Amino acid sequence: MGQRIEGVANIVAVASGKGGVGKTTVTVNLALALAQRGARVGIFDADVYGPNVPLMLGVHRQESTRALVPIARASREPYIPPLERYGIKVMSFGLLVGEKDVVLAEQPLVASLVKQTVRDVMWGETDYLLIDLPPGSGEPQQTLVRDVQIDGVVVVTTPQDLSLLDAGRSLGLYRKAGLNVLGVVENMSYLNCPHCGEHVEVFHRSERDWVIEDEQLELLGRVPMDVGISRGIDAGHPLVTASPGSTQAETFRRIARRVEAKLREGT
Ligand SMILES: Nc1ncnc2c1ncn2[C@@H]1O[C@H](COP(=O)(O)OP(=O)(O)OP(=O)(O)O)[C@@H](O)[C@H]1O
Ligand SMILES: [Mg+2]
Repeated sequence: MGQRIEGVANIVAVASGKGGVGKTTVTVNLALALAQRGARVGIFDADVYGPNVPLMLGVHRQESTRALVPIARASREPYIPPLERYGIKVMSFGLLVGEKDVVLAEQPLVASLVKQTVRDVMWGETDYLLIDLPPGSGEPQQTLVRDVQIDGVVVVTTPQDLSLLDAGRSLGLYRKAGLNVLGVVENMSYLNCPHCGEHVEVFHRSERDWVIEDEQLELLGRVPMDVGISRGIDAGHPLVTASPGSTQAETFRRIARRVEAKLREGT
């Protein structure tokens, strides 16, 4: 069993089998939806090689954090102040290194760096800490799963990716560790025509429904392909705060309610 982070009630990992499925988009909008429901929320971007949470939230590196890249320390007290945006505490390697810097560290070192950094951030009293993981089941996922107490896992897929979610792959890591897989968010699930509003099922469904049933996964929600979602996220002003009245924002709030409920059931 991994260790708890002091003051943090629930740690939720956001995972995916493949890259580019919208994990960070879902993490950021889910965090904002939870915050709109009154929760105290943090996001930790565990993608060392390609951190993009700061970009999507429009936060920039504080000059002073540069010297705070983890080194051997005598004290175990958290010391890295997170940045705050839209009421959410944010920490990312993108805030610790320069925007154009490239992290060259090898995987085992990256894993311990990530594990240490998540503990070194001054999260304070937090209801939900969302960890945006890199895709796949390598590092730092394996180390985090082993050494940090993760209360739930949200898996993000696209319709095409869902059939790849067999237990031997990305899900296997979390299941073997005995983690509570809260369910799946199917992103870019369908299309709403921006002109006529027609709901278009772009991808064939039957096999995907079967996968969800067979793996006993809850479908937490289906997020459409939507220009508002991509424009918002790419401009650092995510949809849930930019257009809180939209149906897509409501979709994220529904996912947030399910995540909260399932975490309560799991405890
Ligand atoms: N529902 C959506 N509708 C439209 N565009 C989307 C949607 N979800 C994500 N995108 C776009 O797809 C791109 C990839 O999304 P994102 O960066 O969130 O994926 P990721 O899984 O975090 O990728 P990586 O594996 O590189 O971390 C982004 O440019 C984003 O704007
Ligand atoms: Mg990402």
